[in-house]
Amino acid sequence: MTHAPKLTILDDGDAVASEAARTIAAVIAATPGAVLGLATGRTPLAVYARLREDVAAGKLSFEGVRSFNLDEYLGLPPEHPASYHSYMRREFFDHVDLCAGDWHLPDGMADDPAAAGGRYEVAIRKAGGIDLQLLGIGENGHIGFNEPGAPFDSRTRKVALAASTIAANASEFPDGQTPPSHALTMGIATILEARRIVLLATGPKKAKALGAMLSGPVDPAVPASALRLHPAVTILCDEEAASCLHDGIAAVR
Ligand code: GLP
Repeated sequence: MTHAPKLTILDDGDAVASEAARTIAAVIAATPGAVLGLATGRTPLAVYARLREDVAAGKLSFEGVRSFNLDEYLGLPPEHPASYHSYMRREFFDHVDLCAGDWHLPDGMADDPAAAGGRYEVAIRKAGGIDLQLLGIGENGHIGFNEPGAPFDSRTRKVALAASTIAANASEFPDGQTPPSHALTMGIATILEARRIVLLATGPKKAKALGAMLSGPVDPAVPASALRLHPAVTILCDEEAASCLHDGIAAVR
């Protein structure tokens, strides 16, 4: 059975970030020991900035919260500036009262990625599952690092990155360094087990992917279309990202 995600179209990326931060704060307030699924990339940067501000202002606390990130590059040590470990510490973990030991990312340096993926699944399950999963979307419709063709029953595992993903993320790497060719990512099935999912899409480069996710078939060719199998998905996007959505899609503006 498929579901229609709740689509909220906001003026710009700032409004999307504020709404996402409000949603995260509401889940934390309503759920003792909330478990968050966190995302990286350029899109959520403004969300982490809002959350940092709220913590600094004493309006929000992450004490008791646990988190699991979607993905990590394989072969990048955690201290590499372009690793998602570094990103999360720089943008979020080092600035909020989330305890060390309560945040988790897949182990990009694992000798045995299959075993590391299995351990990550067990850790999520032991924490009681994810209450709120934050997602971005790739220009090719990927979620996490689940590239087109990723099976809907996939779990945390080693994946090869699409050439277009490597090109899209190259600017995050120091000059002359190319991103790794592989990553460890939560699978589509892992993501679909979250109790609630919020996908963020901002800017014109995301318009085609959002259109394909919502208007095309539910098919592994567009990994984000799998979210239509989940009953509690909210999409927060700006006008630019919504520009390929046709009139038949109900949206709150
Ligand atoms: C990256 C990440 C995804 C992210 C997406 C979009 O490759 N693995 O989790 O959502 O691509 O990134 P951005 O927000 O920078 O466009």
